[in-house]
Amino acid sequence: MSKGKPRVLATRHFPPDVEARLAANFDAQLNPEDRLYDGPALTKAAAGFDAIMCAAGDALNAGTIAALPDSVRMIATFSVGYEHVDVAAAAKRNIAVSNTPDVLTDATADITLLCLLGAARRAHEGATMLRTHNWVGWTPTQLMGTHVTGKRLGILGMGRIGQATADRARAFRMQIHYSNRSRLAHDLEKGAVFHANPDDMLPHCDFLSINAPMTPATAKWVNAERIAKLPKGAIVVNTARGGVVDDEALIAALKSGHLASAGLDVFDGEPRIHQGYYDLENAFLLPHMGSATVETRNAMGFKALDNLEAFLLRGQSPPDLVKAS
Ligand code: 8YV
Repeated sequence: MSKGKPRVLATRHFPPDVEARLAANFDAQLNPEDRLYDGPALTKAAAGFDAIMCAAGDALNAGTIAALPDSVRMIATFSVGYEHVDVAAAAKRNIAVSNTPDVLTDATADITLLCLLGAARRAHEGATMLRTHNWVGWTPTQLMGTHVTGKRLGILGMGRIGQATADRARAFRMQIHYSNRSRLAHDLEKGAVFHANPDDMLPHCDFLSINAPMTPATAKWVNAERIAKLPKGAIVVNTARGGVVDDEALIAALKSGHLASAGLDVFDGEPRIHQGYYDLENAFLLPHMGSATVETRNAMGFKALDNLEAFLLRGQSPPDLVKAS
C-alpha cells in the first residue's frame, strides 16, 4: 500500500499561490478563516500531522513543543524572525525548524526608510491634518520636520536588512554608523563606522534604526538610559521586533521632546500595543507591514515550502534549517 502525501498543518491563512502549492504537494489542512491557535489548540490540531507551517506570533514555545504529538517532524515558519519558536526545545524532540531569510530583506528595508522618512517629515500629522479637513493651506512654518540628508544613521543589527537599509540611506547621503555582533568585511561595510559596543554608537545617532532580532540580549535594549545617550532631537525607527524597545521609556522621551519622533512598524505585544502611542502626534505608526508586498509574501511562502518539500518529500535537510544558538 503506497503511503499518502505528508500532512502539513497551516496555522494561518497564507497567500493564495502559496496555499495552492501547499495543497498540491501535501495533504494540507488550511486555515481559510485565519483563526488564531493558542498553544493547547495547536498541539491538539497537530495530531497526525508531519509538519506545521506557522508564522510569527504563534505560540511554539517550549511548553507547546513539548506537548506536540510525536508525528510532528518539522516546523516551517513563514518569517525570518523565529523568536516565537523554541528551537532548543524542538531540537530536543528532533523536530527540524526552518525560516525564510533573504526574501524579505528589500521589502523590510523599504519600510524602514518609510518609517524613517515618515517620522522625520511628520507624515502622520500632515496626513491627519488633510484628512480631517484641518488644512488651512500652505504656510511658511507648517509641519517643519527634521532634515535627513547628511545626517547620521546608527543601525543596530547589520545583517541582511540592516545592510539593505544602509544602502537605501546612502542614497539620501546619510552617514552610516552600525553596531553588530561582528564587524562586516571591508567591502560590505562601504565606509560605515563600526562601533563594537552599541552603547558607544548612541551619541552619534541623529537617527537610530533597530534591525536586530529579538533575543534575550536585545530585549528592551532601547531603554531610558540608552535613549538619554542619543542626541536631543534624535529619531528612533524600529522595524525589527517591538520587544527590543522599552515602550514606557520611548513614550516618555517622545513626550518630553528629547526625541523628535519615532517611526515604528513593530510593537511589544502587538496588536495590543501600548496605549501611550495612540496619543502621540510625533509617532509614525504602521501595523507590522515590513514584508507586506504580494511578491515578498509569496516568496516567503515559497521558501517555507522549499524547506518543507526538501525535508518531507526528498528526505533532505531543509535549506534554511535554524539551529539552536
Ligand atoms: C512577517 C517578520 O510578515 O518575517 C518576519 O520575521 O517580521 C514579518 O515581516 C511576519 O513575521 C510573518 O510571520
